[in-house]
Amino acid sequence: MAYTNVWLELCGGICVDRIQIEGNVPLCGKIKVQGAKNGALPIMAAAVLHRGMTVIKNCPRILDVEYMSEILRELGCLVWREDSALFINAENVDGGIVRSEYATKLRASVILTGSLLGRCGRAVLPYPGGCTIGMRPIDLHLKALTQMGAEVISAEDGLMLRTQKMRGSTIEFPFPSVGATENAILGAVLAEGITVLQGCAVEPEIEELCRFLCEKGACISGIGSTQLVISGVKKLKDSVHRLMSDRIVAGTYLLAAAGTRGSISLYDVCWEHLRYLLRTLSDAGAQISAEGSEIHMDAKQAVYPVKCLVTRPYPGFPTDLQSQMMVFLSRARGISRIEENMFESRFQIVEELKRMGADIEIEGNCAVIRGVSNLKGNFVRARELRGGAALVSAALMAEGRTILSGTEYIRRGYEDIVRDYTQLGADIKETG
Ligand code: UD1
Repeated sequence: MAYTNVWLELCGGICVDRIQIEGNVPLCGKIKVQGAKNGALPIMAAAVLHRGMTVIKNCPRILDVEYMSEILRELGCLVWREDSALFINAENVDGGIVRSEYATKLRASVILTGSLLGRCGRAVLPYPGGCTIGMRPIDLHLKALTQMGAEVISAEDGLMLRTQKMRGSTIEFPFPSVGATENAILGAVLAEGITVLQGCAVEPEIEELCRFLCEKGACISGIGSTQLVISGVKKLKDSVHRLMSDRIVAGTYLLAAAGTRGSISLYDVCWEHLRYLLRTLSDAGAQISAEGSEIHMDAKQAVYPVKCLVTRPYPGFPTDLQSQMMVFLSRARGISRIEENMFESRFQIVEELKRMGADIEIEGNCAVIRGVSNLKGNFVRARELRGGAALVSAALMAEGRTILSGTEYIRRGYEDIVRDYTQLGADIKETG
């Protein structure tokens, strides 16, 4: 299916490019949080390891899942949807070659390398794409896979790796990369012998991937810790897995509600994954209660700045919520400071925010945010996923009308941001 067709199908056949928002309305109400994007993508890649069926329930209807589905189809999988469940039949995957332009649109396409080496002994892929938030090298992925017996034949025009057989090895990550940890796990599941991964990333999405693989018959211990031990198995089995909720989408909605001084409840959410954010919002003055799979937040008094917020790997503050936090702080009563440590180009929305009246200065990898009493609506453009969602939050907080273009980026990770904010009482609509 052509790229534009996937986009049109997700938009219900209408070419929706812009969102119009009349801001300055406190968000109020209750919504369900969608399934996790960064949980779904590695699990879809993992499905390739099994010569049979995988069902992923609560799988979000987002562009990145559609792109990944197209890549799996090219590899020989049958992929279809029934309501919120995604079905993947990977009986006929042989070649291990991906040529599709979709792979260049998606960062997560690189985690197919481990699966394809495990399943086919070969992985041929174009370089991964994804958001333009920094250099995003893949040296740690390649180092781990070569230590497990893969040979890199070419890494110039694209990736070409092969192996006679993946072999267990002890690998120490110098930095807890999410994608490299996932790739190494996928390469180890069907490998010969035992793989020990040290210095792993501990993001909830990695725990989710390990649990999914164990349900399929993989043998993994140390789940949730920085050291994983994976004993290779000969084959996997059919499985049905319900995907956890998306902590970044939940965080986006909480921060938008806090910025409008609203009061919202989220359900089907895992508050433990949001501990850092909830503490920060609480320090800023929000009243928060969390129980079971619900979070309630009253943010009428969420007016205080945050002295210094630093993005770090989990359980630190997530870089994927940094832009949304910056927007929230742009109206705090005082000066806040954010240090971005993960991706060097994550301050792209600052110029757009300034045009909406924000007072933000960039010093290297730090942003100094002087709270203003109000933002003002304007014409703005999304240039990447999370920055795009943050601009919607800014528009919800701003006085007057904002027209946001580049909404395709937002669809990569948010099922229907207009539906969700409408449900929370916002004056927001899609326009052509
Ligand atoms: C994943 C998430 C992304 C999130 C990021 C950090 C998915 C699909 N994407 O991206 O939303 O923002 O984690 O939480 O799950 N690095 C290297 N060499 C490598 C790999 C990474 O130097 O081989 C560096 C990166 O440039 C970056 C840092 O490590 O500075 C973190 O990257 P990583 O954890 O790998 O993020 P992704 O897996 O790309």
